[in-house]
Amino acid sequence: MPTTHPGPGRRRPSDRLLTVLTCPLCPSGLERADGALRCAGRHTFDIARHGYVSLLTGHRRAASADSAAMVRCRASFLRAGHYDPLARALARLATELAPPDAVVLDAGAGTGHYLASVLDALPGAMGLGLDSSAHALRAAARAHARGEAAGWDVWQPWPVRSGSAHLVLNVFARPATGRSSTASCGPTAPCSSSRPAAGICTNCAAPWGCWRSTPGRRSACAGRWRTALGTSGPSRWTTP
Ligand SMILES: C[S@@+](CC[C@H](N)C(=O)[O-])C[C@H]1O[C@@H](n2cnc3c(N)ncnc32)[C@H](O)[C@@H]1O
Repeated sequence: MPTTHPGPGRRRPSDRLLTVLTCPLCPSGLERADGALRCAGRHTFDIARHGYVSLLTGHRRAASADSAAMVRCRASFLRAGHYDPLARALARLATELAPPDAVVLDAGAGTGHYLASVLDALPGAMGLGLDSSAHALRAAARAHARGEAAGWDVWQPWPVRSGSAHLVLNVFARPATGRSSTASCGPTAPCSSSRPAAGICTNCAAPWGCWRSTPGRRSACAGRWRTALGTSGPSRWTTP
């Protein structure tokens, strides 16, 4: 996991991504222009040669972005398969909660590992990983043929059209504000937030559902997630 990767010569960002992104500085859409994206107000954002678009402007850079060493370690740990059960659970839940051609956002996407698993499970879906680390974005931009990546601080309002996403992932990253997630998805789209074990992350939120890599607990969590979605829009769940 995951299994699909971009082919050679792939054009980024895709036409479909351009229907999702908005200029972070004004309400306009974005179009390609000379190796960059530009809005009608002539705000311009570079497309990195690694394939991601940098929407961050100087004053918005997040201090919490992962360093190169952190991204290397994470990639190596994930490659070893230790968290494959979580990737499989997310992929399975995504098929229950989103259409096969969904737009999936991943807030704090890191290397794009979990987003790629979800895209593998949704055959027509397009994914957008948001992260503030250039090192993570390089990996995320290559993680899946239908996955894209953009530099952004997820604590700021997200540079995506309101209601453009079907599913938001937020995995082991600081939970993005509910307001941004809800605006991106519309009122009924699901969100997933998985966070590390209590011994590692001491601020796990008690009211959230729980998930451990056993079939019983996964299915209990899926039930809570579905229930929450039926009544109050985005839900979050966490690893205790
Ligand atoms: C612990 S890693 C998790 C990455 C990925 N979700 C995973 O589980 O493999 C947290 C990620 O959030 C990113 N991050 C931290 N603060 C951020 C912010 N304010 N906006 C966007 N990304 C942020 C980091 O650069 C890092 O890639």
